[in-house]
Amino acid sequence: MGVLIELKDITKEFNGQVVLRGINLQIEENEFVTLLGPSGCGKTTTLRIIGGFETPSSGEVLLNGKDLTHLPAYKRPTNTVFQRYALFPHLNVFENVAFGLRVKGDKKVDAKQQIKNINTKYDHLIKNASDNETIKLLKKEQKEEISSATNSNSYKRGLIKDLQKGLTALDTKYASDKQNLLKEYDLLDKESPSYSTEYQHLEDLYDLQLSTYNNSYDSEVEKINKIKDTLLTRREKEEALTKKVNKYLNMVGLKGYETRSINKLSGGQMQRVAIARALINEPQVLLLDEPLAALDLKLRQEMQYELKELQRNAGITFIYVTHDQEEALTMSDKIVVMNNGEIQQIGTPESIYNEPVNTFVANFIGESNIIEGIMKDDNLVNFDNKDYVCVDKGFGKNEKVDVVIRPEDIDIVSYDEGLLNGVVDSVAFKGVHYEIDVVTEKRTFTIHTTDYHKIRDKVGIKFNKEDIHVMEKWT
Ligand SMILES: Nc1ncnc2c1ncn2[C@@H]1O[C@H](COP(=O)(O)OP(=O)(O)OP(=O)(O)O)[C@@H](O)[C@H]1O
Ligand SMILES: [Mg+2]
Repeated sequence: MGVLIELKDITKEFNGQVVLRGINLQIEENEFVTLLGPSGCGKTTTLRIIGGFETPSSGEVLLNGKDLTHLPAYKRPTNTVFQRYALFPHLNVFENVAFGLRVKGDKKVDAKQQIKNINTKYDHLIKNASDNETIKLLKKEQKEEISSATNSNSYKRGLIKDLQKGLTALDTKYASDKQNLLKEYDLLDKESPSYSTEYQHLEDLYDLQLSTYNNSYDSEVEKINKIKDTLLTRREKEEALTKKVNKYLNMVGLKGYETRSINKLSGGQMQRVAIARALINEPQVLLLDEPLAALDLKLRQEMQYELKELQRNAGITFIYVTHDQEEALTMSDKIVVMNNGEIQQIGTPESIYNEPVNTFVANFIGESNIIEGIMKDDNLVNFDNKDYVCVDKGFGKNEKVDVVIRPEDIDIVSYDEGLLNGVVDSVAFKGVHYEIDVVTEKRTFTIHTTDYHKIRDKVGIKFNKEDIHVMEKWT
């Protein structure tokens, strides 16, 4: 696996407001990378810069080491699944999925028809949009889609037109050359002794002109036919297209839904159509912006699992945006935690969860007990007026630090066996575990355990030295 995409010092301002402050990120081939962070931290903007829908204010986007910062979206090996499904309500499931291929090169739907389809879709979405912000975004997406739809078909037709103009010019030229030659025949003096030589010369000239003309004409016609061929093998293309559409409908679990109208699908099914539509272009990189946000919890979890499988099987790099930490932990190979236009931490789900670099990450990923402390020495931290042996080192002597202890790393033991003593203050059943708050002299610890304890029980609490995570103070 090598580095596929690299963001170098990306910044972005909108009307003087800085929303990305120097993003540096490497994404490897076939990786499932998640951009995770609270609303407004710049996840979507980062994704749109990768997709080519937004230009950074400074910095570079590299693909395989090559700068593509200013390459338009349709020329990038990326495809996007948007937060809103953005399906065509007037096309059925099959045609919605086939659309991407038709845009790319199939000639059944020409550029004009495609633009009409896009406009119909967005008219509908804009009419149902609730606020101006959404309408603005939709209009932008509409423009982007139209620009990629007009790309290949019309371009080829334009080429053919130009070549045909060339043929007409060739005809005109030939006619005028011939006219000139005929004039020269008229001017020959039949009585002259050199007549037959001169006549032969003109004959040769005529032959030469004719064959040159024929050759150029043939080669131009051949060029036109070659381009026409790519326009004309519709039936074959339709067959290949059907095969491909079926393959991807199968992949997302929608076999048998081909002719179903989009309006008669559930949210989860619509999302599957949207994903199939993006996958069918076989992009090297799939960009997904909160694709499951609109689904209910159970379906979301199901789709998380399926998406992960899909990514493994299809061998595509996924760049996934979510503000749901559980989703990020479940699906990702690599999580990029963002806040306020900056990357806070990059790492595997395990490392982000177990070794958060600061209290922001610790707070955002899972629940935490976050305690102010003082690092007295290597492997020795003091908090709540007590020294604890820990595994962290490399801090300054008596440096102020933050200490994180995960709720599931704390054990409740009997009163005289704990590192600390306290009283059970609340107990909530969370499905698999209990969430129990224990009030100690200095603070309340939140604890996750599968053992039940009664409110007002006097208990001891315990944690291991490796469960104490010491972090630099985050300002
Ligand atoms: N086109 C734009 N014009 C002006 N400001 C913008 C534009 N797009 C995004 N922003 C601003 O940039 C910041 C980051 O937005 P972005 O959409 O990237 O956040 P996000 O992390 O995706 O948030 P969410 O989780 O809410 O989708 C926000 O303050 C947003 O208002
Ligand atoms: Mg967003």
